[in-house]
Amino acid sequence: MLKEDLNRLVTQVGPGTGCGKLMRQYWQPAALTEELTGDRPVKAVTLMGEDLVIYRHGDDEYGLIGRACPHRGADLCFGRWEDGGLRCAFHGWLFDHTGKCLEQPAEPAGSNFHNKIKHTAYPCIERNGIVFTYMGKGNPPPLPAFDCFEAPDEFTFAFKGFVDCNWLQLNEVGIDPSHASFLHRFFNDETDDEAYGQQFRFSTEENDMAITKVLREYDCPEIEIEQTETGIRLYALRRLNDASMHVRVTNQIFPNAIIIPISNEMMLTQWHVPINDTTSWWYAIFSSFSEKVDKERMRNDRLELYTLPDYRPRKNRDNNYGYDPEEQRNRTYTGMGDDINVHDQWAVESLGKIQDRANEHLGTTDKAIIANRKLMIRAIEALENDAEPEIALRPDDPAMCRGPVAIDTIAPAASWRDTWKATAIERRSRSAWAQHPWPSET
Ligand code: FES
Ligand SMILES: [Fe+2]
Repeated sequence: MLKEDLNRLVTQVGPGTGCGKLMRQYWQPAALTEELTGDRPVKAVTLMGEDLVIYRHGDDEYGLIGRACPHRGADLCFGRWEDGGLRCAFHGWLFDHTGKCLEQPAEPAGSNFHNKIKHTAYPCIERNGIVFTYMGKGNPPPLPAFDCFEAPDEFTFAFKGFVDCNWLQLNEVGIDPSHASFLHRFFNDETDDEAYGQQFRFSTEENDMAITKVLREYDCPEIEIEQTETGIRLYALRRLNDASMHVRVTNQIFPNAIIIPISNEMMLTQWHVPINDTTSWWYAIFSSFSEKVDKERMRNDRLELYTLPDYRPRKNRDNNYGYDPEEQRNRTYTGMGDDINVHDQWAVESLGKIQDRANEHLGTTDKAIIANRKLMIRAIEALENDAEPEIALRPDDPAMCRGPVAIDTIAPAASWRDTWKATAIERRSRSAWAQHPWPSET
């Protein structure tokens, strides 16, 4: 549990809040590139309580500036996209992506007033379908060399979805390995082809055992955690028999992302991004080591579940997430269909807009959640004292921020620690693009 004041500390994200300052020290997803195409690539976004406008300039450069014009406060989201910047529709002031005011056409000729205006602006970098921004103090760090950023575009697919609650409860479902045996339980297994690009629904390549079966029949995993350079590594261990162990290795990337295996080929890196204190986005890059990702199929599958252009889930609180008691009796644990995003959506939204953590009762399986909250509180305190968080993701050499591993495998019970690493190395060695050998720090 967390007392009310600490709960506020780790959930409130506006400018000047402890958690808000922490989150701003890391690159955060601001938009999908697919939202910034066409004749007028301009879109309003709210990030961590700040109302902003994002736009493309040039071929693949992006600007993110304050939404309220610094002249009289008009909405720059309706601005004219021209001359490499955004021109306010009220009196024609023109801003570039650095926040510089380039022109004030109604001011007298020769006026220097425009040089005195510095509008809010944040730097942007695009990687594999997502525009990331840095809203923190000082210089932004280099983008880490995570696999999802290193993979060539055709080995990746990006998407996002709206979640109607605070970012932390969304983040915490990603570091809670035991829920998968219940919330995502299917009473029957399916083929890997049906499960393409879907979490928890493939077979391990070692013995063709469906993950759905592993989760269903071995529902009391032993969970181990350890702190790494990038966050918290989790091991969910399910002993299948005296000889074999199902090993699922996932990584939380501090402070608000996770990387998990989607299949023997594919990984999912997912950020949990606050829109404000009570709503969030998940942003995901699916990436694959050796097979190109079928982007069209991935996208079509998701468009069955989400509406555009707002990326809202079709199944949501307003329609009871599609809940069907007959299905709950016979087919799935939740009765909310096959897509696990719907299950997670229900779970995290049912905790309330901001979960009251003073009234929860955390057990043994919640150890990563507890460790992550402690890490966050220490990081917030460090920043208050002008020190670096323990996990700063600011190495001198960005290649040191790499991986992290995501793997589901079946290993000999006696040597699972060595075997999962060997399997991870072997999968990486098949990669069409991964340059560096698997880091020794695994
Ligand atoms: S309010 Fe934007 S130029 Fe006047
Ligand atoms: Fe889940």
